[in-house]
Amino acid sequence: MPKLTGPLNERVIRKTAGRCRERGVVIPTFAELRDPDKIPEAIRNKLPGVGMDDLHPLNLFRISWKNDPGTGLFGSVNALELPAAVMGVEARVIGLVGQRFPTGAHKVGAAFGCLVPRLVSGEFDPEVHKAVWPSTGNYCRGGAFDCALLGCRAVAILPEEMSRERFEWLRSIGAEVIATPGCESNVKEIYDKCRELAADPLYMVFNQFSEFGNPLFHYQVTGPAAEEAFAARRREKGSLAAFVAATGSAGTIAAGDYLKTLHPGMRVVAAEAWQCPTLFMNGFGGHRIEGIGDKHVPWVHNVRQTDAVAAVDDEDCLRLLRLFNEEAGHRHLRSLGVSEEECRSLSLLGLSGICNLLAAVKAARFFEFGREDVILTVFTDSLDLYRSRLGDMRRERGEYRDMDAARDQAAVIAHQGLDGFKELGYQDRKALHNLKYFTWVEQQGKTVEELNALWRPDYWREIFTEEIGPLEGLIADFNREAGR
Ligand SMILES: Cc1ncc(COP(=O)(O)O)c(C=O)c1O
Repeated sequence: MPKLTGPLNERVIRKTAGRCRERGVVIPTFAELRDPDKIPEAIRNKLPGVGMDDLHPLNLFRISWKNDPGTGLFGSVNALELPAAVMGVEARVIGLVGQRFPTGAHKVGAAFGCLVPRLVSGEFDPEVHKAVWPSTGNYCRGGAFDCALLGCRAVAILPEEMSRERFEWLRSIGAEVIATPGCESNVKEIYDKCRELAADPLYMVFNQFSEFGNPLFHYQVTGPAAEEAFAARRREKGSLAAFVAATGSAGTIAAGDYLKTLHPGMRVVAAEAWQCPTLFMNGFGGHRIEGIGDKHVPWVHNVRQTDAVAAVDDEDCLRLLRLFNEEAGHRHLRSLGVSEEECRSLSLLGLSGICNLLAAVKAARFFEFGREDVILTVFTDSLDLYRSRLGDMRRERGEYRDMDAARDQAAVIAHQGLDGFKELGYQDRKALHNLKYFTWVEQQGKTVEELNALWRPDYWREIFTEEIGPLEGLIADFNREAGR
């Protein structure tokens, strides 16, 4: 039974392909997103004339880690090695940079992974359906953007306390916006709204927490990009020690599943907020790291591949946002040997990127990684989406002074402890798997048989490596029908 698409609806496929032909929409394959050299020259030649964030169908080809804003084409994987003087650990930490995706965050990829299988199989009919994007963060921005490029109608659902930038941008690209009560970790309220909308067959909900297209994108595209970033910076004796990903929907962490196929000894570390330590100790609560930690274990999290959990204090993340982006912060970092350019590059880390950085510090200390060890991680979005947070902190806490910078660097990074860090054994992983029961079986209509199937490693192998071939075939057929 395929998990990525429903049964094919030839009539809708033909109709949708016709729409795409009229609008000049070509849907990239996952192979093209992974390796832009595979994109036909006729398409590549047009890309420099299209702005990175334009609502232009060709931007579907920019759902890629390799965008080069200088040329409008593609280069090597966008990645940043954090300066050793910032990290304070021997291991090297390299993060993929999500800021260079259209929308400024990699979630356009997850949304693409969820929408496209249903579009090319005819399950989603753009003339009938509205695509609903429930999200606490960038996923609904990504979904709304992808819909705009593909000519589909989008409804974004997100908590009312999310940053102002997100709401303004969504409205500006024509999405319908629904604000649900609460903050980052109020996912139940989002689900309730989805259930209400789903009662109307006009709405098709793309739930990133349960759609396998989400981790599929990261397995097929983010994982290989991370491997390339590692290979390009690898030193003679260097080895890949860990992949760290803060989990929201647990899509990104599937890149770790891919990396493990190449580096079986490495560890996959899931990060979350200390204020909502669901993976660490079945905890709950509100927190301020936008995009992650939602008081439940996502259906699509292959917990059997997660080796450790790091619960990171959200206050530490906010303090580093200031250290990394205020003048006094840069002054202090320069005094520690960080160059001007390196200081500026720290604005490529949004709050969850900073959370990943701190989880990497904990992992390096816990596993005693040395200078030959490399930790890969992801900087999902950048300061661009949190400027209002910086302004808020300036107003609430006052100007950022030299003393604040010295305190934050010492307390948050140099003395980041092992609290909230746990290595997982077999039963710890099984406990996380079992926790899915309460959300997914009791509340969201999954069966116990389906849940049990998720514990089988071959279940995931089928999705990530066997179903992709037929899906790529469907995309190619669809494009042919659309006159590519
Ligand atoms: C800013 C940010 N960081 C991290 C994540 C978590 O990524 P994932 O949902 O793939 O686990 C998200 C998800 O929306 C996000 O928006």
